[in-house]
Amino acid sequence: MKILYPLLCIILLLADCDIKTGDNGNPPPPSPPPIYPADYKTYILPDKPSSNPDMPKFEEKAALGKVLFFTKINGSACADCHSPNHGFTAGQQQSCGRGCEGMPPNRRPVGTDKDTPPVKSPSSIGVVGSKSLLWTGLAGSEKGPMKGLVHPAIGQALLATSVKAHNMILETERIKTQHPEIFEKFKNIYPDVVEAKLCEPIDVAECLAAFQMRLVPNDSRFQQWLKGEEKLPEDALRGLKAFSTKCASCHKPPYLGSDEFYNVGFPHLVNDIHDGTDKVNEGRHVVTKNTEDMGKFRTMRLATNVASHIRWGHGATFDSLDDCIKGHQNIKEISEAEIGNIIEFLNMTTDRNLLNVKPEGSL
Ligand code: HEC
Ligand code: HEC
Repeated sequence: MKILYPLLCIILLLADCDIKTGDNGNPPPPSPPPIYPADYKTYILPDKPSSNPDMPKFEEKAALGKVLFFTKINGSACADCHSPNHGFTAGQQQSCGRGCEGMPPNRRPVGTDKDTPPVKSPSSIGVVGSKSLLWTGLAGSEKGPMKGLVHPAIGQALLATSVKAHNMILETERIKTQHPEIFEKFKNIYPDVVEAKLCEPIDVAECLAAFQMRLVPNDSRFQQWLKGEEKLPEDALRGLKAFSTKCASCHKPPYLGSDEFYNVGFPHLVNDIHDGTDKVNEGRHVVTKNTEDMGKFRTMRLATNVASHIRWGHGATFDSLDDCIKGHQNIKEISEAEIGNIIEFLNMTTDRNLLNVKPEGSL
């Protein structure tokens, strides 16, 4: 020990000397300041709700909503175009509902009567964090006729899943005759409703809303880091910092989206079904009819397991996050390194539990 101690001191002194001068005698660059969870509190997502004052029997409704989400009614299931493995998006460029066969990412149209929307299926994750819904904001709790009538999330889901938006008919007779087990569940949850009035679209929507309200991606490594329960790689932390200065003015925490509309110059969907002239490509203009809203789309939420989507942008035209970020014509000053770090950060926002949501079992 007597000999070891001075030796250790010399080694430490030498090491210290090395740190101070660097190899070529120049002082090393100052290390960037540390990044602390306390500075990013606004990014903390709420807990998954297990009750709601406006929805008695919330958990039973959410469970039934889950069954409905995965059941083919009128030829397709919600999950055909909102697939959990792909962040509840289509998992392929062209979403394919009724009139298509196969599982995402291999669903293909088979007949002439097919439901193949001209825009990307947005994620069902974090729906409760958006007041307006759909790429144009055509649906959502801010819009009549649901405004003020029902809980915002019910309004959102009802409008988003309405015949207009989705061309899906969720009517009583169909559920009663083709899915008697679901009809029985409705009877138990809505005991005061007479049979002829069971499974009305408003109730179906309420259950789907309850299920989707529980899709809060709050068990990601990023969310755990915010709570002090997990460490994040340095480049992801740099990415968070870059995100908060370059992206968060539009992609606002905690859901990393907003009800604001911009034309960031993304291309429309053009493939063998769509030629890019669909009405929805007018963007916000479809709703407001104001010329300045032409081509503006909603600032989509990114707290949607966004790194597991297959395609990005309203036209589902980008096949990598890198291209999508570079595709924003409004972002000028950003380096390759910053983009790489932001992608690392977005990877850390993935909640693996939500990738594995299956029709059976609880959420
Ligand atoms: C054929 C594919 C398809 C099917 C089936 C489908 N969706 Fe969609 N969904 C879409 C597309 C495309 C949009 C965006 C439409 C737009 O913006 O004009 C969308 C939008 C939504 C939104 C709005 C999300 C947001 O942030 O704006 C919700 C919620 C939603 N769908 C839930 C459902 C539910 C629940 C079902 C089942 C009843 C369902 N979808 C069935 C393709 C589909
Ligand atoms: C001026 C506001 C604005 C800024 C700043 C901005 N975005 Fe966007 N972002 C949007 C809008 C609007 C969309 C949807 C545009 C569309 O599809 O036409 C979008 C879409 C996206 C999408 C695709 C979402 C999806 O579900 O397909 C990603 C990913 C994205 N942005 C990441 C970023 C990142 C990362 C940054 C910062 C480097 C950033 N954005 C900065 C407004 C913005």
